[in-house]
Amino acid sequence: MNAIAVENGVRVGDAAVGVDASRPFFSVRDVHAYYGESYIVQGVSLDIRKGEILALLGRNGAGKTSTLRAIARLDNPQMRHGEIWLDGAPLHRMRAFQAARAGVQLVPEDRRIIAGLTVEENLTLAKVSPGNGWTLERIYESFPRLAERRKQEGVTLSGGEQQMLAIARALARDIKLLLLDEPYEGLAPVIVHEIERILHSIKPMGITTIIVEQNAVAALKLADRAVILDTGEVVFSGSAREVLENTDLRHEYLAI
Ligand SMILES: Nc1ncnc2c1ncn2[C@@H]1O[C@H](COP(=O)(O)OP(=O)(O)OP(=O)(O)O)[C@@H](O)[C@H]1O
Ligand SMILES: [Mg+2]
Repeated sequence: MNAIAVENGVRVGDAAVGVDASRPFFSVRDVHAYYGESYIVQGVSLDIRKGEILALLGRNGAGKTSTLRAIARLDNPQMRHGEIWLDGAPLHRMRAFQAARAGVQLVPEDRRIIAGLTVEENLTLAKVSPGNGWTLERIYESFPRLAERRKQEGVTLSGGEQQMLAIARALARDIKLLLLDEPYEGLAPVIVHEIERILHSIKPMGITTIIVEQNAVAALKLADRAVILDTGEVVFSGSAREVLENTDLRHEYLAI
């Protein structure tokens, strides 16, 4: 969206040469993506500073998951226009495995815990490459529930524990951008708080997070910034607090 590009004073070219110190750490520029001929992501733009948490919100079918998938460079939806930059790297020129190497990790709604593997094996397998990913010790320190259950098969964990394992597995890799699709779904408030605590604690490490949530209030309380999508377009971009305080906006696009 041009309005956003102008608002932030950043042009695509600035990010391309990487000389502008004010350039956002992560930037989506006018991305259009399709499932076959079905036009779903219709010119999405957003910027995030390093270590920020962005809540990506909108009604069912607004295009939130599709936007996360386009950012992670999965084959579907197919991105046909736009640019995506992460810390100076052109994700739009990459395939999914390359984007993963560049530091993008998507935790999908179903969490994809590997059956037949223990908690620890799920974590160990995630450490595919050396780098600054978290060690097992560090993960167990931050996720004591996982430490207690390290020998238990991952798929037998409770929903909340599986979500923690999915996030821990992402942190075991050397990541820059964490994409969470409905991490609180079906979880009790106490578990949601535990996950919020973790997401807060990774901010100072410079990990940038996009959280998609039906529980918009929880996501907005956690997030620094918010983007609201409607039929594949950005209809709001601003601070999370603004959305919390704007009843009209919440009624119109979030039904809260
Ligand atoms: N594989 C697919 N093929 C065709 N259309 C799809 C596919 N996946 C999603 N869509 C369509 O794209 C639109 C956006 O879907 P998406 O899953 O991105 O929405 P969402 O905002 O994540 O919704 P929800 O809150 O229900 O998860 C919907 O109209 C959906 O039907
Ligand atoms: Mg979705």
